[in-house]
Amino acid sequence: MVYAACVPLIFTMWSVRMQTEDRVAALLAQMTLAEKLGQLQQFTGDSPEHRDWVRRGMVGSIINVTSSRSKSPAAEANALQEIAVKETRLGIPMIFGRDVIHGYRTVMPIPLGQAATFDMELVEEGAAIAAREASAYGVHWTFAPMVDVSRDPRWGRIAESGGEDPLLNARLGAAMVRGFQGEDMSAPDRVAACAKHYVGYGAAEGGRDYNTTYIPEGLLRDVYLPPFKACVDAGVATFMSAFNDLNGVPTSGNAFTMRQVLKGEWNFDGFVVSDWNAIIELIKHGFCADKREAALAGLTAGVDMEMLSTCYVENAQALLDAGLLSMEQIDDAVTRILRIKERVGLFDNPYLTDERTSVVLAAPHLDAAKRAALESCVLLKNDGALPLPAGLRSLAVIGPMADNPKEQMGSWTMDGNANDTVTPLTALREALAGRCDVQFAPGVPDCRSTDTAGFAEAVRVASACDAVLLIVGEDAGYSGEAHSRAYLTLPGSQDKLVEVIAACGKPVTMVIMAGRPLALEELVSKAQAILFAWHPGTMGGPAIADLLLGTAAPSGKLPATFPRTVGQVPVYYAHKSSGRPPRAGDHVPPIGTPLDPSDFAGTYMDSSHMPLYPFGFGLSYTTFAYSELTLSTDTLRMGESLRATVTVENTGSVAADEVVQLYTRDLFGSTTRPVKEMQDFRRVTLAPGERQQVTFTLNTDQLAFHNPALQRVVEPGAFHLMVGGNSEEVLLAEFTVVE
Ligand code: NOJ
Repeated sequence: MVYAACVPLIFTMWSVRMQTEDRVAALLAQMTLAEKLGQLQQFTGDSPEHRDWVRRGMVGSIINVTSSRSKSPAAEANALQEIAVKETRLGIPMIFGRDVIHGYRTVMPIPLGQAATFDMELVEEGAAIAAREASAYGVHWTFAPMVDVSRDPRWGRIAESGGEDPLLNARLGAAMVRGFQGEDMSAPDRVAACAKHYVGYGAAEGGRDYNTTYIPEGLLRDVYLPPFKACVDAGVATFMSAFNDLNGVPTSGNAFTMRQVLKGEWNFDGFVVSDWNAIIELIKHGFCADKREAALAGLTAGVDMEMLSTCYVENAQALLDAGLLSMEQIDDAVTRILRIKERVGLFDNPYLTDERTSVVLAAPHLDAAKRAALESCVLLKNDGALPLPAGLRSLAVIGPMADNPKEQMGSWTMDGNANDTVTPLTALREALAGRCDVQFAPGVPDCRSTDTAGFAEAVRVASACDAVLLIVGEDAGYSGEAHSRAYLTLPGSQDKLVEVIAACGKPVTMVIMAGRPLALEELVSKAQAILFAWHPGTMGGPAIADLLLGTAAPSGKLPATFPRTVGQVPVYYAHKSSGRPPRAGDHVPPIGTPLDPSDFAGTYMDSSHMPLYPFGFGLSYTTFAYSELTLSTDTLRMGESLRATVTVENTGSVAADEVVQLYTRDLFGSTTRPVKEMQDFRRVTLAPGERQQVTFTLNTDQLAFHNPALQRVVEPGAFHLMVGGNSEEVLLAEFTVVE
């Protein structure tokens, strides 16, 4: 019955695929070399020079054609497209790309914040909204999702990622691909997605952007590649090669990662675009002597489209003549690009015809943005200051992020508009109108300022009110591309501001907006409650107000470990044990005394080895009790699954969501295994007093890793299975895998 019902669908998909392949092949057969090379070129923006290139059939794609500020996006996009369609011999339409990373006009929380929701339906909805808005402005293709596993908060681009965990990045990436592309990426309200930056970019040495990476192949396959594979499985249209040197071979000239893994092992049939100038940068890497060598390296390795630089178009003919490149290689790249253009529907519908620009900021979009911001906020500390008491008569709101609509949007918001953004100050004033006097003093002119002239007024306001809300953090431009940090404290004089305000003796709640985990050890004692809000986007203010006032309970969980101090970095939960793991707990060997033999372990002399807040951590206004972890079997045969069931009870007095997390540990392996690996997670909603059984299914395939011979294996033996509300506090069960 089910099978019979599927046959027509499978047949339709197959026949559409054949139609696409036939059309692409027929077109390719008519193309001259110059026309083929044109398809491999991407430019940015509109200029007379670029129009001339387009006219000569030399441009396959343009990035940044229109923006949300365009008065008439259809006229602008179509004017360029008409040149390609009407004035070139074959009329091949261009594909218009843009960085639509966390929303278009409706700005969602930064991706790291979206990861903190652990709510992949909401992430998918956010990407679908972004696609709907961006496509109305002529965007066919977004350069998202970014799924670079990031274990170094110094790296500015951790903001754009799903954080430190491969599974979380994989789920986030797949959800975004589904949201952007939908079932059919040729639908007018969808866009093609791009998995980036392939690969290892997040492992930059020293956390410095663009820096060298060394990742052994086993680790690459176990940690850095799986999120990209998840995007392929979700049907992602394109990939972007990265900027980094990976084990001595820059990723934009890396045949192993692109030809062998992506296009070979994974059978990816879309195309790869280089990152911005990454082909010509192969020269600066010291990998290629000139543009000709760079073209050869990029094309041979499998970068199909060159973003910005022009190595391919200038040198491919000479490389073919010299026998260094084959026409099959060029044809393969062109075919992949035409295939995606066909799937995007450009041959049938190259123009922006439907005037849908009024779709931006639609009520359901703003509602989803608010929900995403709400679920992304992580409550790090609460000594009872939150929610703010209902009878509060006066509230001092202090800090440079309290009323900063532009900066709260986050790092990738070319199309966001500060005028659409609601700040916490505005939202709180509205929510508390008539019942609480909300007074505001920024304290410092902006996040980075070292000016302390505003402290006196901030102290006066804090002293005059019943409670204080300090809204501090990093401005949007303090994270993102090329914005790495060597310190992880609050920038400028904000640390001092926190201190002087704390000294006023009023209950202090700190809301921190930032693009990365920060090292908050010195600040924790200065506030009674701390809510970490990332850069929450357009609707950050109303979401934060709801949380502060107790209309909703916080439920975000950390997608990356929070260090105590930058000196602990990299610090992540899925680390290895070492032969001398530190004692459990927070032990710091006494400074200045000879070490006890038992202290010859992996600790620091001047800090605990433990992070300040572990991966997966986040408090609520209620408490959750975990009990009765049971396994359907404690002996699991290869290829089989077990069910792990745990009871989660809301033991407090408010309804709230909890993110239940499943971890495993493979106790012994032919390659040593991490002390914990997240295998699954589930967001559940529990009423006060409610108990719910949560069941996870775990298949032995999820336990696979790459052994020293680089074979993907599951090794028989003893395992721990752990379930909890964060990666530290877990219930434990044991099972054995047998042949
Ligand atoms: C460079 C960035 O690394 C990449 O993420 C982005 O998509 C491109 N520029 C295009 O703007």
